[in-house]
Amino acid sequence: MQVYIHIPFCESKCPYCAFGSHSDKFKQTKSYFQALQKEIATSLQKVEKISTVFIGGGTPSSVGGEFYEEIFALLSSKLAKNAEISCEANPNSANQKWLENMRKFGVNRISFGVQSFDEKKLKMLGRIHSKQTAINALNLAKEVGFKNINLDIMYGTKLDTKKLLESELKIISNLKINHISAYSLMLEDNTPFEAKFELKKDSPSLAKFLINSLESLGFKQYEISNFGKPCKHNLGYWSGKDYLGFGAYSVGTLGNQRFYSPSNLDEYIANPLQKRVENLSKNDRICEYIFLGLRSKVGVKLANLNNEQLEKVQILLKSKKIYQKNGRIFNTNFLLSDEISLFLT
Ligand SMILES: C[S@@+](CC[C@H](N)C(=O)[O-])C[C@H]1O[C@@H](n2cnc3c(N)ncnc32)[C@H](O)[C@@H]1O
Ligand code: SF4
Repeated sequence: MQVYIHIPFCESKCPYCAFGSHSDKFKQTKSYFQALQKEIATSLQKVEKISTVFIGGGTPSSVGGEFYEEIFALLSSKLAKNAEISCEANPNSANQKWLENMRKFGVNRISFGVQSFDEKKLKMLGRIHSKQTAINALNLAKEVGFKNINLDIMYGTKLDTKKLLESELKIISNLKINHISAYSLMLEDNTPFEAKFELKKDSPSLAKFLINSLESLGFKQYEISNFGKPCKHNLGYWSGKDYLGFGAYSVGTLGNQRFYSPSNLDEYIANPLQKRVENLSKNDRICEYIFLGLRSKVGVKLANLNNEQLEKVQILLKSKKIYQKNGRIFNTNFLLSDEISLFLT
């Protein structure tokens, strides 16, 4: 089973971000972690083995390492021997003590939200760290012993040019890390960036330039936004595996049902076991499977498609938009995956 744990706290709220997190509710940290323990202890009774854990947010490094001790004590007896345990972090708060603690608890993959190494772009994105803070945090993670390190970067902002991306890539090439997530800026609803179209620059040629450059640095693209040594947890999502979501704002799926925790901290703390259940139709499941499969190297098993979809597959094969191997179809250009999936579904 795959496990996701949500940490809904951030040192400051970035103006583009719609993830469930708060910068003014740290006084609830203790009661939040008590609620998390209750939820995890209850749900894990039915779980045999955990293959991957992903602690995300929000910003998991914004709360002290000591809060995670009990969580790992609960997970430990169920963890598979070679379980992948990832944790997100912000360069500002991932200090040596925190990194050492997480390593001690068994975290073996760390993911830093860096976004950029350009001071102007960092400021425009409302980030609270500098280029140097990010580089220092990465070096610290390496010194502490992390071998699997990811950086999140963002592109498609008004400031992006080939020259700016080249300088980001130059720094990346010297970091000796093994994974990059590169996200195109999205102007999310209910954020200060909502509808600020002047902040965004949609440039397919810049996106292609970034992808090709990352590939030539050895970060092989395996999903529309992901490059390098694949994250097993995310590959699991994209291949439609079940997963348990713990914490406020979290989501999980089991078979044909999706489970939503409260998107409200107080409600979650008051009753961490409550879930809203969504029943997924066969059609919902297959559409999602096609969208996720074609955005990644997971691909789509032909045996899961109906006759109408198989006819459309032939059209896509003829025009070389996709290719077929071992009973599965794969995308040739991840940037076009949504259009191809829409055509198929
Ligand atoms: C949940 S955050 C975790 C990282 C950590 N909280 C931090 O920011 O340092 C995961 C990543 O999502 C990306 N992200 C968040 N909002 C986005 C948006 N509106 N458009 C594109 N990427 C976004 C950022 O790259 C961010 O690092
Ligand atoms: S990008 Fe990261 S630090 Fe910024 S608000 Fe979102 S989760 Fe928090």
